[in-house]
Amino acid sequence: MSGEKDTRMAMLRRECEACRKCGLCQGRHNVVFGTGSTDAKVMFIGEGPGEQEDIKGEPFVGKAGILLDKMLKAVDLDRKTNIYIANIVKCRPPMNRDPQPEEQESCIEWLRQQFAILRPEIVVCLGRIAAAKIITPDIRITRDHGTLYRKSGIIMMPMLHPAALLRNPSQKPGAFEDFLKLQELIRQREENAANT
Ligand code: URA
Repeated sequence: MSGEKDTRMAMLRRECEACRKCGLCQGRHNVVFGTGSTDAKVMFIGEGPGEQEDIKGEPFVGKAGILLDKMLKAVDLDRKTNIYIANIVKCRPPMNRDPQPEEQESCIEWLRQQFAILRPEIVVCLGRIAAAKIITPDIRITRDHGTLYRKSGIIMMPMLHPAALLRNPSQKPGAFEDFLKLQELIRQREENAANT
């Protein structure tokens, strides 16, 4: 654990928890800031909190989160030790609707600051909303998931959102291929780092 990063992240969390920059703050029970290891080299970015996340104040703790945790575990990743997870918007959109562009825009500064603290090497965007905001607006998630992009020296991979996999289980094998690809990418980078 990195003490300095933890301190900066805790300060940022406190600021974020007081945020009232957009209308989403009105319906929230909790700000869902983010969770994970501040030493993580891999950051996962989702869309926004759902009902369970809003209640518990932690990302991906509902049904989609349970599936996500299972897929992560299968490739030796988990939110306690080696990844960090956050969302594009930190407050739950009413009725789980898509966060609107202006809500995304007013919230993105928190993510930028999380990013600046973590300095991840690999960013995984879960679903169309996160991939369009972070990677490229013209992403088509069913076509482009698993593709590697490079932006400002950071490797970025769009993946299918676990909630979409729950709705459409036939997409699970393809989604799991992406997790295996991510695992191999991490392995190669660790090997290269050990040899330099
Ligand atoms: N879906 C998301 O995109 N993020 C969460 O935190 C939960 C569900």
